[in-house]
Amino acid sequence: MGCFFQKKNKIIADFFFKFPYFIYSFFGFRKLSFAKTCFLFFSDKAKIDEINLAENYDRFFSKIKNKKLRIIEIGIGGHTMEDRGGSSLRSFATFFKNSKIFGIDLINKQLHERSRIKTFQGSQVDEDFLVNICNTHGPFDIILDDGSHFVEHQKKSFEIMFDHLNEGGIYIIEDVGSSYIKYLGGSQDISSQNNLIKYFLDKTHNVYSYYIKKNNNAIKNKFIEISSVQYFSSPSNDVASILIEKHKKIKKSKDVDFFDLSLEEIKRKDPESPMIRKSKDGVMIQKK
Ligand SMILES: C[S@@+](CC[C@H](N)C(=O)[O-])C[C@H]1O[C@@H](n2cnc3c(N)ncnc32)[C@H](O)[C@@H]1O
Repeated sequence: MGCFFQKKNKIIADFFFKFPYFIYSFFGFRKLSFAKTCFLFFSDKAKIDEINLAENYDRFFSKIKNKKLRIIEIGIGGHTMEDRGGSSLRSFATFFKNSKIFGIDLINKQLHERSRIKTFQGSQVDEDFLVNICNTHGPFDIILDDGSHFVEHQKKSFEIMFDHLNEGGIYIIEDVGSSYIKYLGGSQDISSQNNLIKYFLDKTHNVYSYYIKKNNNAIKNKFIEISSVQYFSSPSNDVASILIEKHKKIKKSKDVDFFDLSLEEIKRKDPESPMIRKSKDGVMIQKK
């Protein structure tokens, strides 16, 4: 019904969009989780029991829900129909009451704009388009990619937009199942960089960047600010998302000279090194 009135009258459209939410909150359930909010706005992030990716985000979102954030989502929904979709934008705007919500879609979705919701038409792989939005409206606290689901697109948007995520921010990529589907650019070869699980698995080394030498290419400096990478699945194991957290404050890696030396090599290099441990009763103790 909401979509039906979208072109005619936004107030009536919003009444219908918000109707299930109003009824629910009228009976006292005011402290709704993000997952429940998505469910009440018919977002496919939370088809209860079947697919519920949103439930995984609550542990992060509930702590920051009252802050003034900038949130951007790639993929507004409704595909070629301008008046359809927008469920997740409405869920974000309802749950994060003090935040500004931005949406990107290939199709013009201006009909979904409200006082705290702004939309942009363009592709998630158009670097100039993304950088322009980020420079004008970012940096963002939450970036969520629910766009084309093509692996190359997911990677490209991440590689462009992670720089525009605030310290302590969260980047989420949904529907990572495409990583296993050839026509979406994925691969059944789990060692391939076209598999996002593998792609981010390699980046999890960044959480130990302290120990990794600066000249080690396993670490790309661009992603040194990753503080965690988490993978979430739905109960049916066919829908999953990846959540990447950015450090609140990053110290650059130390480049300590003994991290890639064996004990014997350290002894040879510096017999007095405090790092040399002596074995006492089978227990390794650090030399004072
Ligand atoms: C799954 S829907 C988004 C659903 C919405 N986020 C929600 O939860 O209600 C995917 C959307 O991504 C858009 N899309 C597809 N390819 C895109 C691209 N290359 N750049 C930006 N948006 C794209 C489609 O038009 C479609 O509306």
